[in-house]
Parts: sequence; C-alpha cells; structure tokens
Amino acid sequence: MPKLAIPAYIIAIGSYNGTMSKFLAFTANPEPESLTQYIGKAFLEGAETKGADTEFVDLHAIGFDPTYRMADRKQYLDEALMPDDVAALQKKILDADVIALVFPVYWFQMPAMMKGFTERVLCRHFGYNPDGSKSVIADKKFRVIMLTGRSEQWYHDSGIHDAIYNQVIYYMFHHYCGVKDAELVYVDNLEMGDNSAKAREAAAKQIENIKELGASMA
Ligand SMILES: Cc1cc2nc3c(=O)[nH]c(=O)nc-3n(C[C@H](O)[C@H](O)[C@H](O)COP(=O)(O)O)c2cc1C
Repeated sequence: MPKLAIPAYIIAIGSYNGTMSKFLAFTANPEPESLTQYIGKAFLEGAETKGADTEFVDLHAIGFDPTYRMADRKQYLDEALMPDDVAALQKKILDADVIALVFPVYWFQMPAMMKGFTERVLCRHFGYNPDGSKSVIADKKFRVIMLTGRSEQWYHDSGIHDAIYNQVIYYMFHHYCGVKDAELVYVDNLEMGDNSAKAREAAAKQIENIKELGASMA
C-alpha cells in the first residue's frame, strides 16, 4: 500500500498542543511616552515571545471617560443597557485570557483614570452579578502593575501595600468578581516624570522582569 503524504497543515495542527492565549494591557498615564506605557508594552512583548496574541489600550489615548455618570447608575439599577464605551472595553476583556492594569500610583492609590475604569467597566452585571452567580471574568487572570516613586519595601513597611491589596486584589477581584488569579506587581523606585532613555536604563532590570512575567503567563 502506498504511503500517504501527510499535508503540512495537518502536521502543524497535530503539533499544536494548546490554545493561543490573548493578552490585554490597559494603561493610565496622560504621557504617551511615559514609563507606564513602556511597561504595559513590555508585558505584552514578553507574552508575544511565547506566541500570545496581544492588544494595548491606552485609556487616555482612546479618550475614556472615567467618571461614573447617570448612564452607569441606570445600568446598575437595571434601568438601561450597558453604556457603549463601557461595553466596547468589556468585549475586549471577554476576548482576553490575561489582563494587565498598568498605572502610576498617585497619593498611594490608583490614578482617577484607572479608578474610573474599575468603577465603570468592572461593574455590576459584568464584574459581578447581583444574584451572586459566577461572573464572566472569574476565570481570567489579572495583573495590577503599579509604578511607584517609593520602594516596594516601603509599601510593605507602611501598610499601604496591605491597604491596596485588601481593596483591589482581595475585595474587588477575589471576593466580588470571583477572580482567583489576581496579583499586585511593583515597578518601584522611579523618578517622577522622567521618561528619558536614562530612566529606562535605570529601570532596565524591572522592565526585563515585566517582560518575563508576560512570557511566563503566556
Ligand atoms: C500626583 C502624583 C502623586 C504621586 N503620588 C505617589 C505616591 O503616593 N506614592 C509613590 O510611590 N509615588 C507617587 N508618585 C510618583 C509616581 O507614581 C511615579 O513617579 C511613577 O513613576 C510615575 O509613572 P510615570 O513615570 O510612567 O509617569 C506620584 C506622582 C504624581 C504625579
């Protein structure tokens, strides 16, 4: 019996032993050249080295409105559908497996843009359900990547780490959204407003760590 040649595409499918993951990074910094944007991109670049599909969303660049308005309130109360701008970002999250929220810490917490993103996008009927049923984001992985002037050690010593962890990781992600795989990640000891190549060089090890984090999760 003649030996059948196996088409290349069948071999390719046969050797593919997993589904390609999709990575999404949301950044909040008004400066398009800031280290914040650079870190968001580094996370995605790391994932890309392992074949992941990626999408970068700069919340300032897309003009996202972080203010919780009547349309959001009405949606919460079942009096209106999800606002269109919110629904568009929720669709991106639904299509992703790993989502990074990347921002500079302002006054020991998220900047207003990212805070508004969590209020409006991770909202009732998406981030969690009023009847307590499993949310559509529960099985996704979230990494909350914070850029800070002070050191990570200082955040631990001062109790601010515990405060942010309790509010964002434990109560928002674990408890309400049912997301088990959510973690805080620091990029620390940064010089405020310094987006220079020199500053990036100083932060090179940390940028490399973020790339490795992206690669390790892909
Ligand atoms: C309004 C404002 C408040 C800040 N508050 C803090 C703070 O509470 N803790 C901290 O570690 N860094 C604080 N910083 C410093 C920034 O988080 C840090 O410099 C970060 O690198 C900024 O990111 P960027 O370089 O991408 O803009 C603050 C910066 C600004 C502009």
